[in-house]
Amino acid sequence: MDVDTGVDDALALLLALASPEVELVGVSTVTGNVPLPRTTDNTLRLLQWAGRADIPVYAGAERPLVREAVAAAAVHGATGLGAAQLPEARTAPAGDGVEFLLRTLQTRPGDMLLVATGPLTNLARAEARVPGVLQRARQVVIMGGAVGVPGNIAPTAEFNFYADPHAAHQVLASAAELVLVGLDATEQVGLASATLRACTGAYAAFCQAACQPVIAFESAHYEFAGLHLHDPVALGAALWPQLFRTQRLWVDVETAGDLTAGQVVVDQRPLASDQDRLGRPVACAVDVDQTRFLALFTERVLTP
Ligand code: RIB
Ligand code: CA
Repeated sequence: MDVDTGVDDALALLLALASPEVELVGVSTVTGNVPLPRTTDNTLRLLQWAGRADIPVYAGAERPLVREAVAAAAVHGATGLGAAQLPEARTAPAGDGVEFLLRTLQTRPGDMLLVATGPLTNLARAEARVPGVLQRARQVVIMGGAVGVPGNIAPTAEFNFYADPHAAHQVLASAAELVLVGLDATEQVGLASATLRACTGAYAAFCQAACQPVIAFESAHYEFAGLHLHDPVALGAALWPQLFRTQRLWVDVETAGDLTAGQVVVDQRPLASDQDRLGRPVACAVDVDQTRFLALFTERVLTP
């Protein structure tokens, strides 16, 4: 997994740890919700607290490819983990995040599932260093973009793609086996604060504390008393594809627009030949069985 831990990244990591379908071989971190030192420290603390300090964490890109870093501390809190307090990490990062991605994809071609839940800077850097390396993943599942729905951090842009639009453009242009899980799907899955409050599992107290500022933000801005599970839904698309409906769309990402940087541009013109289309065809998640997803997430993360 490649993360910018952040609250929903943490929830996705806990879902990965609680899911027998996957072996989490390592985590690379990137600047996103909060700067890299914090996303890295948050990830080290979370894995240690969950009893999985054996899973190595690799620190990746400090800043986006071109643009200045933006952060989302207003949503995730100053630390990036809301009001949660986890013990200090006793381990340090195991190495460089981009090198981890390159090494893992090159030594286990066709075997790895790469799930990216932050800005795509590390993936773009890996692809630039070894062109075609992302194709060695069995699948690259990305939480990012907004295809047929408005953005969140900007009218037409979702945060991860807004934070590093050049990286998003380069990754979507790679020939990797991509699944794009944008706000179209993730905003269909809301965890109500009442449901979260009622949970009593080992992770519940952490989740309740971590989610506080996200719920406050969503309540104030979207009048939803809860939070949308963006990153867990992206992992869900990798674990349980049967819960998702995707559409094969020709997409590219705007990198220069003052108002539109990070926008996913879809070419749906009634052209005679696809050869004339913008971008390339990508499987975009457009629907998810939110009831079954929430049941699985609650069972695995909030109640055990
Ligand atoms: O737009 C939602 C995405 O941006 C999530 O991955 C969240 O963690 C932030 O990174
Ligand atoms: Ca994230």
